[in-house]
Amino acid sequence: MTDFEKTFLLIHPKELTDNFFHILDDDWMLITAGTRESFNTMTASWGAIGILWNKPVAVCFVRPQRYTFGFMEKSDIYTLCFFSEKERDILDYCGSTSGRDTDKIKNTGLKPLFTEKGGIYYEQARLVLECKKLYSDRILEGNFHARQIISANYPTKDFHKFFIGQIISCLIKA
Ligand SMILES: Cc1cc2nc3c(=O)[nH]c(=O)nc-3n(C[C@H](O)[C@H](O)[C@H](O)COP(=O)(O)O)c2cc1C
Repeated sequence: MTDFEKTFLLIHPKELTDNFFHILDDDWMLITAGTRESFNTMTASWGAIGILWNKPVAVCFVRPQRYTFGFMEKSDIYTLCFFSEKERDILDYCGSTSGRDTDKIKNTGLKPLFTEKGGIYYEQARLVLECKKLYSDRILEGNFHARQIISANYPTKDFHKFFIGQIISCLIKA
C-alpha cells in the first residue's frame, strides 16, 4: 500500500453522506477508464446513484464521440471521482479538452493511483466510486416519451450510451 492509498478510507456505500443531486450537478465528477498503461478521463455531471438488482450502482452517460467512450467500452472496471472546489480547474480542463489531443494527466497535475481491482483514481479526489460494469446500452431516439428532450439535448442525434456499474469500492479521503 502506498502513502497515498493510506489517505483513503474504504467505506460501505450506505455510509455515504454526500447529496448526489448536489455533487453531480454542481461539483461534477471525472469518469476514468482504461489500463495503467493507457487510460483516459473526462468530466461528467449527468449520472445516478441507487440500488438495482439488489446491488449499489452508479449510472453514467457518455456520448460516443468522447475519447473516453472507447475506454469505457473496453473496461470492466472504471471509476467516478469527486473533488473539492479547489480542484475546479482540473474538472474544467478535463471537460473542455480531449485526451485525443492533450495529455490531461500531465497538464492538470492529476496524480493517478491504482486499485487492486484495476480502477484508476487520483490522489486529489475526495470521494471515489470504483465501479464494475454490469450493463450498458445506447439511449434510443424511439424510446423517448418526452420528445422535447431530443431537440434540447441531441440536435446531432449523438445519443449517450449509459453504463450501469456496481459500486465495488467506495473510498473517501481520510
Ligand atoms: C460540467 C461538464 C459536464 C459534462 N458532462 C458530460 C456527461 O455527463 N457526458 C458526456 O458524454 N460528456 C460530458 N461532458 C463533456 C466532456 O467532459 C468533454 O466533451 C470532454 O472534453 C471529453 O473528453 P475526452 O474526449 O477526452 O473523453 C461534460 C463537460 C462538462 C464541462
